[in-house]
Amino acid sequence: MEFQNLKVTTQDQIVVLTISRPQQLNALNNVTMNELEQFVNSIALDKQIKGLVITGDGNKAFVAGADIKEFTELDVKGAESMAERGQKIFQSIEDLPFPVVAAINGFALGGGLELALACHIRVAGSTVQMGLPEVKLGIIPGYGGTQRLTKIIGRAKAIEFIASGEMIEARKAKEMGLISHVTILGNELLKSIELIHSITKYSPNTMSKILKATAIAGSKNGYQYEREAFGELFNTQDAKEGIQAFIEKRKPSFKGF
Ligand code: COA
Repeated sequence: MEFQNLKVTTQDQIVVLTISRPQQLNALNNVTMNELEQFVNSIALDKQIKGLVITGDGNKAFVAGADIKEFTELDVKGAESMAERGQKIFQSIEDLPFPVVAAINGFALGGGLELALACHIRVAGSTVQMGLPEVKLGIIPGYGGTQRLTKIIGRAKAIEFIASGEMIEARKAKEMGLISHVTILGNELLKSIELIHSITKYSPNTMSKILKATAIAGSKNGYQYEREAFGELFNTQDAKEGIQAFIEKRKPSFKGF
């Protein structure tokens, strides 16, 4: 699949997606969002994929937000449907059945930070800056940022963060629980790939269920999903193998990714 604003590479079953409009700090314009949607649809069912890393092209930005230059044409209906579409695309990223890591290599602002929030885990270079500056434009985040940020760092901190519109550095973001890992700038991609390898050593069946169960934690279906998934896993070859291997005091041999 050929894209104008996305670069896709795969190594050892880990896909690296690079958002690539470096002259515009990888801002998410309409074309890029279309391509992102196509890309996510194309990988969602691929059983060969162990994980996905999303990063930005160039040495300045992860993604500096939605493309503000396209905002001038929006009316109420247009803005709402743009947000609806963005929310849907980012949700489809969050719903991927393998781990998705944001390797934040530069500015992650507005829609760029919302993209990172839709990833399961965030890794950032130590000096990168991130924020939700929408209030400075007289608007609020519209690609799921208010919802995901609140879930990730709690409501009080989310209100302050969104209402201030200020940028914070990676270390502060880690202290707040907004990101999981800080690396030397330039090492975030490598760290993200290592992280995916380290959490995909066991069965892909367990991975997809861990992702789904943690996604709905706190909702009223969370416990029900957990017990059903727990039950379903007993019907898999990998669970039979894992349990038998423990009893026989040997290493399990899972089907793997
Ligand atoms: N949408 C559209 N274009 C953007 C953009 C965005 N979100 N962010 C950056 N760009 C463009 C700039 O317009 C500029 O393009 P130009 O050379 O054609 O004028 C280019 O990217 C480089 O950005 P510039 O502002 O010159 O770089 P800088 O180093 O001075 O500042 C930022 C970097 C990130 C602080 C600044 O670009 C910025 O504040 N961007 C907007 C962030 C934002 O509000 N995002 C939320 C959107 S809802």
